[in-house]
Amino acid sequence: MMNKSAVRITGLRVRRGRTAVFDGLDLTIPQGEITGLLGPSGCGKTTLMRSIVGVQTVAGGRVEVLGELGGSRRLRHRVAYGTQGAAVYGDLTVRQNLKYAASLLRAPRGDVDRVLDEVGLRAQAGQLAASLSGGQSTRVSLALALIGSPELIVLDEPTVGLDPVLRAELWALFRALADRGVTMIVSSHVMDEALRCDRLLLMREGRVIADTTPRALLEDTGAPDPESAFLRLVQGDRETHAATRRSLREVSE
Ligand SMILES: Nc1ncnc2c1ncn2[C@@H]1O[C@H](COP(=O)(O)OP(=O)(O)OP(=O)(O)O)[C@@H](O)[C@H]1O
Ligand SMILES: [Mg+2]
Repeated sequence: MMNKSAVRITGLRVRRGRTAVFDGLDLTIPQGEITGLLGPSGCGKTTLMRSIVGVQTVAGGRVEVLGELGGSRRLRHRVAYGTQGAAVYGDLTVRQNLKYAASLLRAPRGDVDRVLDEVGLRAQAGQLAASLSGGQSTRVSLALALIGSPELIVLDEPTVGLDPVLRAELWALFRALADRGVTMIVSSHVMDEALRCDRLLLMREGRVIADTTPRALLEDTGAPDPESAFLRLVQGDRETHAATRRSLREVSE
């Protein structure tokens, strides 16, 4: 049976500066699963996430999130976004940062302690955010995203700079959230993390070149690991494009 969609995007067009990042992007993201957004630097992962959470100016198309128009006020409490650079106040402690976020969202009193435990930052609660290690600040931005128990959590490269143990712990947390019915959209550069997702959107140059599952990705490409699978898909995509350009030239000649 098909799952309900958390995100439904049709004909999305986005320009950033002089770049046309998306020129008619269509995709859906199922509810209650972990969808991985993978692809090379500059392919549009952050732009797609910004479009979903409603902070990206779009030139056309439609973005529907949890049955509402993307960016609508009604989604404010239902959608959380952990950005690539941590949006944390360095001159406040970890706990003060979380308390501030909880007050903005009018989240329940116990939320701050709950998320501190979830990301394993209880011992750093009283420390100034500016004095945290890289991995610890990454976890603060994740904790901020968990405040208020959102239904959709969008995380831009949340495991960058984390050691393998912490990385595994965070993926276990993402899994626990998805098991509770939370929809997770997680971008990553690390192709091995693809195996931890339920669904994968592989992107290249503003297009989705595969909408698949980890198992189907390996089966369809015959590759031994996600990294080689992705390289094979990119090669195939290049050849298709070259062939399309050739036939367009032939038609116009
Ligand atoms: N403010 C901006 N002005 C002009 N171009 C931009 C701007 N922000 C992003 N771009 C361009 O839009 C394209 C998509 O960028 P985006 O940040 O979405 O990529 P990404 O897949 O998240 O990359 P990374 O993996 O490096 O984070 C890139 O070509 C980038 O240079
Ligand atoms: Mg990015």
